[in-house]
Amino acid sequence: MPDPPLGPPIGPGIVRVEGHAKVTGRARYSYEAQSADGVPARALYGAAVLSTIARGRIASIDTSAAEKAPGVRLVLTHRNAPPQAKWGPLNAKVRFARSQPVLHDDQVRYFGEPVAFVVADSFENATDAAYRIAVRYAAEAPDIDLQAEKGVDPAPLHGGKSADTRKGDFDASFGECVHRIDVRYDTPYQHHVSMEAQASLAYWQGGKLVIHAPAQIPAAMQAGIAATFQMPQQDVRIVATLIGGGFGGKLPYFADSVLCAIASRLLSQPVKFAFTRQQTFLATSHRPAVLHRVRVGVGADGLIRAIGHEVVSQTASFDNYLDGDTMGAEGLYRADAILTTQRLARLDLPRSDSMRSPGDASGSLAFECAIDEAAYASGVDPVEFRIRNDTSTSPASGKPFSSRRLVACFETGAENFGWKARSKRRDGEWLIGFGAASAMRDNMLRESSAEVTLLPDGRLEARLDMTDPGTGSYTVLTQIAAEALGLPVERVTVRIGDTDFPPTAGSGGSFGAESAGSALYEACGRLRERLAQQASADARFQNMAASDFRFEGGLLKAGGAKIALGELARRGAPDGMTAPGHIAPGVEAKDYAEASFGAQFAEVAVNAVTGETRVRRMLGVFACGRILNARTARSQALGGMIWGLSSALMEGNSVDARGQFVAHDLANYHVPIMADIGTIDAVLMEEEDPVANPLAIKGIGEVGINGAGAAVANAIFDATGIRIRSFPITLDKLG
Ligand code: MOS
Repeated sequence: MPDPPLGPPIGPGIVRVEGHAKVTGRARYSYEAQSADGVPARALYGAAVLSTIARGRIASIDTSAAEKAPGVRLVLTHRNAPPQAKWGPLNAKVRFARSQPVLHDDQVRYFGEPVAFVVADSFENATDAAYRIAVRYAAEAPDIDLQAEKGVDPAPLHGGKSADTRKGDFDASFGECVHRIDVRYDTPYQHHVSMEAQASLAYWQGGKLVIHAPAQIPAAMQAGIAATFQMPQQDVRIVATLIGGGFGGKLPYFADSVLCAIASRLLSQPVKFAFTRQQTFLATSHRPAVLHRVRVGVGADGLIRAIGHEVVSQTASFDNYLDGDTMGAEGLYRADAILTTQRLARLDLPRSDSMRSPGDASGSLAFECAIDEAAYASGVDPVEFRIRNDTSTSPASGKPFSSRRLVACFETGAENFGWKARSKRRDGEWLIGFGAASAMRDNMLRESSAEVTLLPDGRLEARLDMTDPGTGSYTVLTQIAAEALGLPVERVTVRIGDTDFPPTAGSGGSFGAESAGSALYEACGRLRERLAQQASADARFQNMAASDFRFEGGLLKAGGAKIALGELARRGAPDGMTAPGHIAPGVEAKDYAEASFGAQFAEVAVNAVTGETRVRRMLGVFACGRILNARTARSQALGGMIWGLSSALMEGNSVDARGQFVAHDLANYHVPIMADIGTIDAVLMEEEDPVANPLAIKGIGEVGINGAGAAVANAIFDATGIRIRSFPITLDKLG
C-alpha cells in the first residue's frame, strides 16, 4: 500500500476548527471544567498566599482568623500539608516530569513561593480568608544580582553533560582576523502573561487523581504528579482540552496542580484554583535574563573565521534550567573556529524556564546584533554579509542540513522589502533606518503515538494526547487525517489533551505538529491498509493491486468500483475500524542537522528629539519545510515577529531589592499593541524536507521570533549610528 498522499508544499489555510467555540465563549478551559467534562461535583475554590521575602524561613504563621472566616473548608500550610516526594531530580530525563512538592517545609526560596493555601465555598470567601493569614519570616539577604555573577558550569547539574562547543582554535583564529568584534549584550527577564492564567481543577475518583490543567505536555505532567505523590502513573489523568496560551510557560506544571490535588483529596470534593494575574509573575516561570559576550572575527574577504558566544543565564537557586542561547553561533554561519560556553547563575528568584524559542530568542538578540556589527566593521552590506557566510553544513557538528533555504529567504525578502533601494534619510524629526537578521530554529522529531477510528457513519475520530496552546494543533491534525483518508475536514474529529489517549511529545520546542502529526499520519496509513484489506474481501475489488486503491470524498475507489468508507469499517467491526500509529526519530536523522530558517527585515523611525522608536515595517521570510496550513503558519510567524519587536523595544522585567519582580501586571509589563506594530508581513517559502519526518514539514512555531528583535535593533543603529547593547532599547537609552 503506498503512503497516504501529501498535499501541496503550502497547504490550504482553512480556519481553525475550534475557532468558533473560542470566539463565542463556548470553549471551556481547565478552570471552567464542569459536569459535561466529567467533573463529579461542584468545585470548591482555592486562594494562595505567596511569600514576601526571597530567602529565609517562615518563623510563624497564624491561620486562626482564616480558619474561622466564612465558608472556609481548609487551610493548608507546611504544618499540615501531606508528605510529598522531594523536588527533582535535577538531572531527570524529562525536566517537566520531575516531582514538585509544595508547602513541604518552612524554607522560602524566592519571593512569591506559596506559603499557604485556603479552600472555601466561593472565590470571594477563599480570597478573603487568604488575606487573614499572618506570616512572620526570618529573612536572609537574597542573592539576586545577575550582573555580579560569573555563573557555574552546568555540567554537574545535568549529569555531567557539557553545554559548551569548541571547534578549532578560537583564540588563534580570532587573533588572526583583520576585523574583530568583542561585545557584551544583556537580555532581560520576560514573563509569559498568557491570556489564560495558570490554573487547575482536581478531583479524585475511585483512587484515581484527575487534574484539568493547561499542560503543554500532559504525559510529562502525569509522570511529575505521580512522582510527587508517589503513586502509579496510570492512576493520574491529566486533561488539557484547551490551553489559553502556552509558548513554554505551560511546559512545567506548577503549585496550583499540586495544591488542588492535595485539597481535593482531603475534602473529597473537586477543588479549583487559578493564580491571580499578579501571582503568575512570581509563582510560575519566566524567561531568564542573560549576559552575553559575543566575539566575531572576520577576514579581509568578509568571511567569518571565528565565532564566540559565551553566556551566563539565571536559574533558581534550587534548579538547573539552561536556556541554550548559543545555537545561532553553532549553526548559522561558516567559521573555522567556534567557542560557546553556557554558565548558570543560581539566584534566589523564581524558576526560569522555556519561553517561545528558549535560548534562541535571547541568543539571537545578542548574536544577530553582533553579526551586524561585524558586517559594518567589514564594510559589507549586512544582508550580503549573511549570504556570503552561509553554510550547507552545520559548522559545529559538521553534518549537512537536511534542507536550508536561508539565502533564498534573504534574496526574496530583500527584493520584497526594497532593501537595495534603502538610503539613510530623515523625515522631519524622524531618523529612518533599515535592519536585517537571520532566523534559525532547530527541528526535532520526538516519539509520539496516535489512534484513529473510522466510525460506521463514515466519520473519522483521532485520539492522541497532543495539545493546542493556541497554535492550531486541532486544525492541522484535522487536515492531516482528512488528507490521508480523502475525507472532507468536517468529517474528522480530533480529540486531544487527555492522558487517556495515546502519548505524544505534546506541544513545545516547535516539535508538536511534526511529532504528533507524523504519528497521526502513520495511524491513517495503517487504517488505509485495513480498509483496503476489507475491500479485497468484496468481489468487486478482488484482484486489484494496492496501488489501484484511491481514497476520495469518503469513498474507496478502484477501477470502476467504489464503496463508502463507513460501510467498509462496519464490515470490519460493528463499532468501526481502528488503527494505531507511532513515530520515533529514524536512524537517518542522525546524519543530518535539521532546522527551519528565515530572514527578518525591519524599517524603523527614531525620533531625534525624544529617542522614541517606531517600527514602520517588518517582513519575515521563512523556509520551514512543507506548510500544513498557510493561515495558522503565518499567524505563528507574525506572533513571533511581534514578540521580537516587543523584546527589542518594550518587554522586560527587573528585580527590586527584596527579590520581587517589579512589574506584575499588564499596566507595568509592556507589550506591543496594534498601533506599535506598523505594517507587518510574513512570507512562507516553498520547501519540502525529505529527511525530517514522513510529512516533510519542519517546526514553524518558534523561528518567527528569532532575529526579529535584532532586525529592529539593527535598524535603530542604521538610523542613528548608536548601538544599544542592553534590551529592551527604551528611549532613555537612546537619549
Ligand atoms: Mo515553546 S518554549 O513551548 O514556544
